[in-house]
Amino acid sequence: MPEEALRGKIALVTGAASGLGRAVATALARADAIVVAADIDEDGGRAVAEELGVDFVRLDVADLDDNKSAVEFVVQRHGGLDIAHLNAGIASPFGLGDDFDLEGYRRAMGINLDGVVFGFHAARPAMLARGGGSVVATASLAGLTAMPPQPVYGINKHAVVGLVRALGPAHAHEGVRVNGICPGFADSKIIDPIREGLRAGGVPVIPAPVVADATLRLIADPEAAGELLVIQAGVDPYYFKFRGLPGAR
Ligand SMILES: NC(=O)c1ccc[n+]([C@@H]2O[C@H](COP(=O)([O-])OP(=O)(O)OC[C@H]3O[C@@H](n4cnc5c(N)ncnc54)[C@H](O)[C@@H]3O)[C@@H](O)[C@H]2O)c1
Repeated sequence: MPEEALRGKIALVTGAASGLGRAVATALARADAIVVAADIDEDGGRAVAEELGVDFVRLDVADLDDNKSAVEFVVQRHGGLDIAHLNAGIASPFGLGDDFDLEGYRRAMGINLDGVVFGFHAARPAMLARGGGSVVATASLAGLTAMPPQPVYGINKHAVVGLVRALGPAHAHEGVRVNGICPGFADSKIIDPIREGLRAGGVPVIPAPVVADATLRLIADPEAAGELLVIQAGVDPYYFKFRGLPGAR
């Protein structure tokens, strides 16, 4: 069971004020991990931290120095870092046509992609100091399939998938395991604008604790490196298998 492997481990969860991050922080705390909840939303993050009896650190994941400071906070407060769930993210409901929004584009890239790049960069030295650790990024099924209504979100999540696939094998030898989760539509405020449409279309929404349980299993899997865990309603979570490319002839 992942609970045993997670007991006493020191975990930073970004985007912990709400939705999936909150559910993962809650599940980690229940598994007796030492959790630090991080979010740009100070009121929401503090409320969750208080409810769970854990620390809160204010963090804008799109800012490299903020990521370093958050890791520093965790290390100073608890003596190290074993787990980083790089989860904070936003929707990007615009396309690349007449609705293109440069500011929104930069913001989405900054949070959804830089947030994972910076989070990994900040967490790795602290994990190396402990002999290794587990990094899990929140990608999405939108990172594995086309998402015409939200192309920028699709870019962001495909990039996170590519990043995880590259970092996994590159860092496994040093004990830093990098993996990602790819949930389908899950119950959080990010889906509020489309919630009614999903309901009307009969699209099932995954409860956040179900995503959290699967995420904990991935965090604790000692063999996983560069894996993308598909979490879809009514389907047992599984590691996505990519088709190989032909070699040069
Ligand atoms: N809910 C879904 O259907 C679904 C599906 C697949 C992937 N995801 C991904 O799950 C992750 C979590 O989203 P959620 O569904 O829980 O939505 P959510 O809106 O409930 O939570 C997102 C959290 O991220 C925080 N956040 C936003 N910008 C931030 C920043 N710059 N720095 C730090 N924190 C920031 C928000 O304050 C919020 O607490 C996201 O990466 C999202 O893309 C969600």
